Amino acid sequence: MSTQEEQNFGADPTAVRNSDHYVEEYNFGFVDKWDELIDWKSRAESEGDFFIEELRKRGAEKILDVATGTGFHSVRLAEANFQVVSCDGAPEMLAKAFENGRQRNLIMRTVQVDWRWLNRDIHGHYDAIICLGNSFTHLFSEKDRRKSLAEFYAALKNDGILILDQRNYDAILDHGYESSHTYYYCGDNISVYPEHVDDGLARFKYTFPDQQTYYLNMFPLRKNYVRRLMHEVGFQKVETFGDFQETYKVEQPDFYIHIAEKRYVEGEDVDG
Ligand SMILES: C[S@@+](CC[C@H](N)C(=O)[O-])C[C@H]1O[C@@H](n2cnc3c(N)ncnc32)[C@H](O)[C@@H]1O
Repeated sequence: MSTQEEQNFGADPTAVRNSDHYVEEYNFGFVDKWDELIDWKSRAESEGDFFIEELRKRGAEKILDVATGTGFHSVRLAEANFQVVSCDGAPEMLAKAFENGRQRNLIMRTVQVDWRWLNRDIHGHYDAIICLGNSFTHLFSEKDRRKSLAEFYAALKNDGILILDQRNYDAILDHGYESSHTYYYCGDNISVYPEHVDDGLARFKYTFPDQQTYYLNMFPLRKNYVRRLMHEVGFQKVETFGDFQETYKVEQPDFYIHIAEKRYVEGEDVDG
């Protein structure tokens, strides 16, 4: 059986544009390769302490990682003494995350949950929610994006923040794919390429050193669209960073990082 069949995109892979398909895309084979694709050590080096510093600056302690994946950020934050609850909708991802935690002497608190129904399974309120690694792009309808952002908003304390990142799809849609892969995709000899891009789909192909290939179908989110949705579900202030602050890059960033604040300030207009 070929890898593509295992991932099961059907006869017309570019027709697969739905928010439920991520569970099948992150099958066991792909999840197992994921940590090769995203080398933890290089990733930690390229990110530096960006997220840790942003969270500490705001006094955040209780963190909900809604896109845990194989656990990179959950583990980093737990090791930095934050209280972390780790969720993801894909069971294979959470199993791998738990195993990664154990190897580092951590017992992770994991919950399998889809963002669209987050508050059905998550209780309590958090100082911060993180949704990192270009995860939000898995949602294909505006209805699902609004619902998920509203669920994130509801799970935050009154002065909580949401940190959500995304690929710079504006650059890909407007100028083609030129990502330097400096951030996130740091594994050796792994090629990541958008095989198909249109206004409603970015289909990325991942080729591993053993020539195995996997695909992810994602929605190409424009930066200002995401900022607008965040405001519309109630976030008061949205700050957007290009890559990480201390980037040496002068051209277009590969990733954007949005920090959305829930805190309501009397008399203050929400930005842009
Ligand atoms: C690209 S991976 C990123 C994982 C991790 N944050 C990282 O940076 O390595 C995206 C993750 O989002 C999860 N995901 C996608 N859509 C989801 C949804 N609707 N509800 C819950 N998890 C979802 C996937 O299962 C996957 O683990």
